[in-house]
Parts: sequence; structure tokens; C-alpha cells
Amino acid sequence: MAEKSKILIIGGTGYIGKFIVEASAKSGHPTFALVREGTVSDPAKANLIEGFKNSGVTLLHGDLYDHESLVTAIKQVDVVISTVGHGQLADQTKIIAAIKEAGNVKRFFPSEFGNDMDRVHAVEPAKSFFATKATIRRAVEAEGNIPYTYVSSNCFSGYFVPTLGQAGATSPPRDKVVLLGDGSPKAIFVKEEDIGTYTINAVDDPRTLNKILYLRPPANTLSFNDIVSLWEKKIGKTLEKIYVPEEQLLKNIQEAPIPVKLNLSIGHSVFVKGDHTNFEIEPSFGVEASQLYPDVKYTTVDEILDHFV
Ligand SMILES: NC(=O)c1ccc[n+]([C@@H]2O[C@H](COP(=O)([O-])OP(=O)(O)OC[C@H]3O[C@@H](n4cnc5c(N)ncnc54)[C@H](OP(=O)(O)O)[C@@H]3O)[C@@H](O)[C@H]2O)c1
Repeated sequence: MAEKSKILIIGGTGYIGKFIVEASAKSGHPTFALVREGTVSDPAKANLIEGFKNSGVTLLHGDLYDHESLVTAIKQVDVVISTVGHGQLADQTKIIAAIKEAGNVKRFFPSEFGNDMDRVHAVEPAKSFFATKATIRRAVEAEGNIPYTYVSSNCFSGYFVPTLGQAGATSPPRDKVVLLGDGSPKAIFVKEEDIGTYTINAVDDPRTLNKILYLRPPANTLSFNDIVSLWEKKIGKTLEKIYVPEEQLLKNIQEAPIPVKLNLSIGHSVFVKGDHTNFEIEPSFGVEASQLYPDVKYTTVDEILDHFV
């Protein structure tokens, strides 16, 4: 059997990064995490770092803004997965430059993990946010010799399902629920552990080479209305439904403070425009994870909701 690729995760101590580090270590890939020195000594990250060490993850000190540290880390591995957050997305050009200099990378996964940035119908500020990720795609492709996979994971289920996307909520609503648009476009929700598993499965898979890997688990492809009725059945109660028409939502986006603006405009793309599902995956540009890896028993939205009944 071919040896498993060595994987470096940049951003492994972040929200989605930790699931990818864990999936990589669990699947037996030699796993490396680039961690800033300050993070290693940060008490808030101590348990996470300890967990990485116990799983056999090799910690490499470095920083996105320290070119030498990136090149040194990248030279030790075969695959680079970036899970850097919002503030560092544009600066992934620094990873591309380091990959170019190192010259040994078999696959690069830039920080995507959301909509397919080339197939969105977004308004600002989501439009610019998605465009930054698309710019990184173009920068990778322009190099011509960096093999890549873009993971379009759609919604992290942990971000939406436990509150049904209700602002300020800590559990799913039991009286009334606010739905964006008419609630009918299908969106996709994937549990963070499954995003890790699918991403790591793709690492050494020739079918995902220079392709977009879409995570579209069929049981988790649901409209806002579908999820609300699933929840209503579980709690045996009908909720009052407040629909926010698109025109009103666009006005709300304009008037909202900055972080809320971004979330609302992403919600507009996903739940009103249906940007997770309003296009077919063509073999020329993409593959679907639950079809490639039918053995992965992904967690369904239905199962997640059970925890909140
Ligand atoms: N589909 C969805 O529902 C959804 C939701 C949220 C995010 N996302 C996407 O997921 C991706 C990751 O986002 P996230 O929220 O998981 O990110 P995050 O929690 O903000 O984590 C960012 C990671 O980058 C690291 N980092 C920051 N500055 C760095 C530097 N200078 N050098 C090296 N590492 C640095 C952080 O390290 P420290 O621990 O040292 O700070 C952390 O590990 C993004 O593309 C984001 O758009 C998708």
C-alpha cells in the first residue's frame, strides 16, 4: 500500500482547523500543525494543543507572516491544508509563495470550507468576502504547477442547526422562528467532524485533483422550511413563522452593524439565492464527497436536532 501523505495544517487551532487536524491524525496520516509561538503558551488553547500532542500531531512553530517558517514547515510534508480565518484569507498568497519555493507539495487546500466562491449570487459584504477566496483560487491556478483541491463544505452544521440560525439564540426556538426569504431554497449542513473526514479522504485521491470537492450529503440538503418542520415534529408543536422577504432582508443588511451585515448577506446567498444547490456539479470542475466516499457515515441534521429536544 502506498504510504500516506504527510499533512500540514495551517490554522489548525481554529474553529474548523481542529477538526481537520483530528481527522488527519485519526486516519494515520503523519500530521503537522503550524502553530504560532504565542498560541502554544495561550492557556485558552492549552487543552487543544495537549490533545494534538496526545494524538501524535507534530507541532511546528511558525507564522503566516514569517516566510522562512512556512518554507521550513512545508518542506517536511506532502500536502498543505489552510484553515486560516477571515482576517488572513487574502494573505494566503504567502502560503502560495512558500509552496512555490519549497517545490515539493503534492496538494494544496486553500481555506475555503463554504459556498463555491465561483458560483455565488451575493450582495456586499459577502460578495467581497467570497471574492477574496476566489482571488486565492486564481492565484493558485496561475502558478500552473500547484496541484489543488477546493473544499466546498457549505454550512458548518454547528453554526446553524443548534439555533436554526436565530440571532442571539442558544438553542432551537420553541415559539417563533424567523426565516429568510420564503424558506424554500435547499441549503446544505455538514457536521464539522464530517468536514474533517471528507477533507482528509480527498488528500491522496486522484479524483479530487484540481477539482472542487462538494460536500452535499443528501439527508442534509434541506430548505429552511424543511428544517423547521423537522424540528416542529420533534417537539410536537407548530411554531409561529416570520418570513423576511428579500427586499426587507437587503434593507436589513444595509442597516446592520458590520459583523451582522456579513452573516446576513451570507444568509441571503444561502437561503434566498439558494447558492448551495442552484447549480449542477459538472465532472469538468467538481466531484461530490458522499458519492466518492459512501462508507463515511455522516451525521444527519435530524440526529443533531435530537440532542436539543
Ligand atoms: N461554512 C461555514 O459555515 C463557515 C463558518 C465559519 C468559517 N468558515 C470558513 O472556514 C475557514 C476557517 O475559518 P475559522 O472560523 O475556522 O477560522 P478561525 O477560527 O478564525 O481560525 C483561524 C486559524 O488561523 C490561525 N492564524 C491566524 N493568524 C495566523 C498567522 N499569522 N499565522 C498562522 N496562523 C494564523 C489561528 O491561529 P491562533 O489559534 O493562533 O489564533 C487559527 O488557528 C475560513 O475560510 C472561513 O471562511 C466557514
